[in-house]
Amino acid sequence: MRYAVLGAAGQLGRDLCPRLPGEVIALSRSGSTAIDLARPESLRALFDDVRPDVVVNCAAYNFVDRAESEPQEAFAVNAWGVRELARLCREHDRLLVHFSTDYVFGLDPARRQPWTESDAPGPVSVYGLSKLAGEYLVRATCPRHLVVRTCGLYGVWGSGGKGGNFVETMLRLAGQGKPLPVVDDQTCTPSYTVDVAETTLALLRAEQPGLYHVTNSGSCTWHELARTIFELSGLHADLTPIPSRDYPTPARRPVYSVLDHAGLRALGIASPRPWREALAEYLRERKQKT
Ligand SMILES: NC(=O)c1ccc[n+]([C@@H]2O[C@H](COP(=O)([O-])OP(=O)(O)OC[C@H]3O[C@@H](n4cnc5c(N)ncnc54)[C@H](OP(=O)(O)O)[C@@H]3O)[C@@H](O)[C@H]2O)c1
Repeated sequence: MRYAVLGAAGQLGRDLCPRLPGEVIALSRSGSTAIDLARPESLRALFDDVRPDVVVNCAAYNFVDRAESEPQEAFAVNAWGVRELARLCREHDRLLVHFSTDYVFGLDPARRQPWTESDAPGPVSVYGLSKLAGEYLVRATCPRHLVVRTCGLYGVWGSGGKGGNFVETMLRLAGQGKPLPVVDDQTCTPSYTVDVAETTLALLRAEQPGLYHVTNSGSCTWHELARTIFELSGLHADLTPIPSRDYPTPARRPVYSVLDHAGLRALGIASPRPWREALAEYLRERKQKT
């Protein structure tokens, strides 16, 4: 099996590539086969030169706040580029594995129950809308697809697009001794890229196309996550819970975007471990890498 991975240098791509059971062609926007979702014509080379059996799309326009003032850029990558990718996968009868986000939810501010795959989405940001458009376009265009929604990713490679991740940002700011006001009214599930990669492999083995939620188990607010990072690292930090209104951002975030794993359960695939255990493992792993 030959896997072509777009966004291979991102934090999820870096943990997924070494686990794929076959030859892996790691793609980025530079190099001999430069693939840019914002230039759909570049995607032809994927099928003419690389000739994969499976296409895995870990690439995305991930700048949640910037997307509010750059909707064209966000849609070019997350929707129109993905549409062309899906069209080509269908034309070549290839499986397309595509990643999406919990930010496709949020429109119902009263919701406090995990979202299942069959719940109607409703994003509250341009980024969320562009990702939702992308997942619909994959599902409508390419019959052989796995669309995997995930949430709050952190991995030892940091986010390729944004630089670092929430855990690293907290550790850095605490190291500088700065006061840390962190929002305590947005609940989701921080997810370790290693666990998302492993469960994606289980989905590949199951060979059941469709839409799936893959996150670590349980949920917390960003403030609870920060507190746990410091607890597990034995660090003291000047941490204060604040409401979102005291930390205004250009993009709205869902108040509650915990994802239920009904799709995994239906296939008999175990949910990834609780987020706290995964975080402890991440903190051990990053120590070994530094
Ligand atoms: N990060 C999160 O918290 C989070 C949460 C939920 C869902 N997700 C989804 O999970 C997936 C993986 O996210 P991640 O955190 O691993 O992302 P990441 O670390 O920011 O990596 C994204 C990769 O996308 C590539 N990319 C950006 N624009 C591109 C374009 N126009 N054409 C081709 N490649 C492009 C970049 O590749 P190069 O710069 O190397 O070319 C980068 O390596 C994405 O679909 C994301 O929407 C992420």
